[in-house]
Amino acid sequence: MSFTPAKWPRKLRSQSWFAGTSRDSIYHRGWLKNQGYPHDLFDGRPVIGILNTWSELTPCNGIHMKELAEKVKAGIWEAGGFPVEVPVFSASENTFRPTAMMFRNLGALAVEETVRGQPMDGCVLLVGCDKTTPSLMMGVASVDIPAIVVTGGPMLNGHYKQQRVGSGTHLWKFSEAVKAGEMTQEEFVEAEASMSRSTGTCNTMGTASTMASMAEALGMALSGNAAIPAVDSRRRVIAQLSGRRIVQMVKDDMKPSNIMTKDAFENAIRTNAAIGGSTNAVIHLLAMAGRCGIDLTLEDWDRCGRDIPTIVNLMPSGDYLMEEFFYAGGLPVVLKRLGEAGLLHNDAVTVSGESIWDEVKDVVNHNEDVILPADKALNQSGGIVVVKGNLAPKGAVLKPSAATPALMQHRGRAVVFEDIDDYKAKINDPDLDIDETCVMVLKNCGPKGYPGMAEVGNMGLPPKVLKKGITDMVRISDARMSGTAYGTVVLHTSPEAAAGGPLAVIRNGDMIELDVANRRLHVDISDEEMTARLAEWVPTHEQPESGYAWLHQHHVQGADTGADFDFLKGCRGSAVGKDSH
Ligand code: FES
Repeated sequence: MSFTPAKWPRKLRSQSWFAGTSRDSIYHRGWLKNQGYPHDLFDGRPVIGILNTWSELTPCNGIHMKELAEKVKAGIWEAGGFPVEVPVFSASENTFRPTAMMFRNLGALAVEETVRGQPMDGCVLLVGCDKTTPSLMMGVASVDIPAIVVTGGPMLNGHYKQQRVGSGTHLWKFSEAVKAGEMTQEEFVEAEASMSRSTGTCNTMGTASTMASMAEALGMALSGNAAIPAVDSRRRVIAQLSGRRIVQMVKDDMKPSNIMTKDAFENAIRTNAAIGGSTNAVIHLLAMAGRCGIDLTLEDWDRCGRDIPTIVNLMPSGDYLMEEFFYAGGLPVVLKRLGEAGLLHNDAVTVSGESIWDEVKDVVNHNEDVILPADKALNQSGGIVVVKGNLAPKGAVLKPSAATPALMQHRGRAVVFEDIDDYKAKINDPDLDIDETCVMVLKNCGPKGYPGMAEVGNMGLPPKVLKKGITDMVRISDARMSGTAYGTVVLHTSPEAAAGGPLAVIRNGDMIELDVANRRLHVDISDEEMTARLAEWVPTHEQPESGYAWLHQHHVQGADTGADFDFLKGCRGSAVGKDSH
């Protein structure tokens, strides 16, 4: 797939604000000049918006993002562009309530209008924490002006008592150890600081690292971007190079629609399997494809990910962390391996203007413990599995690389929690009728139900099971799971309970069968019984009456299509409305 650059010079969209001597042009230029910009900056050179998600309440997108923005600016100046830094909506997975996912679409909406309504010819997306990457990519895909992704990069490795500790992954592990009586509360608090020892995103192959990898595999970031640690000087170098590059992309008129093609999405899905990436990538890529007008489905996830070995030995599936992934060669090595195996659309074009294969064909793997040979893969079939059946007619997902092989085929008695509060109220009760053969079922945690589809699908096991030394059970919900989490966890069950899906009517004692090999998720009740139960169902989740929560409740779509808002799908272009002055 080749890209043909547009002719240069030509008139850019920013010139509809700045060119000429009309009262409106003088008004637009004049106000910007109060920041000390010389007149010749408005001469038709590319105006580049640096969309910065830095926030002190998004600690993953930390203070270093301000420095990265300065490096991007340096690159834009060097290439003859005019940089303008624009703060945009930011939501951290670890602070935003009820869940950052509820605000991904709000961020995307804000970014879309921020870009379309202002004089930008291209933009640099400075992103990091889980939702910031897809929300900005969705927003610019709906405007379709040249854009390049620069992620903030992961934190350095965590260490506690000579042990490598990973963001999130060890939070879950230590929390279960405290419940099992294997770790004291004091040790848990001591370990807390050891997990986050520098600025940056989660250092595991969690959702932030996954989405950084997805951006690179889609071709929307410069090669090698995903794994460079936040505090490594090379992170600042790639920021500057990205600044240089976006100017040329504007001159060439190289837009997201030229890059984010169906082939590019298939490359990303296969990459996700190879890296043992987060299940959240499923939702985000489906939503991004929807913005690009590309027909991407859950079936594409299952088809493309099938039989792709997970070769990146990173937590939560493996042993290492993003810092070591970078030293081993990072994502380019994985893309090269996929290409060599005939699993990459090699000619997919990237923001560099080169094909993805040209970008990676000469890279070297520096550590075969971190990026494994295929015969030593963590899992020979690492792709996200999509299961369907009378419990999930529109599908549910499971990440095999994070699951227990022995539980991939399992039949057990349902123990049902009506919502997350019900779960919290019951899970520590020694009289709860549950053992390790049961299937834990959590309802009302989907896009409408929680609301916002929180990362609670990897609900912790009951203490009385943990104390037996059991570390995994089959769990089913309409929730998401943190990319840093693990377990035999069936997620995103669709339709969700709050939308009246079959999950809503599962009862304690129902027998549930999970059969990953045959992609089946079944509850052992007759069709007649299911119909009768669904006919009696009434929603129990809270119904907001106003505000953003109302908008979300009425317009969010199912997880099986990406949980975007119905009215935001597709590309609306960059045409500017009338001037108001
Ligand atoms: Fe923000 Fe992991 S919680 S990157």
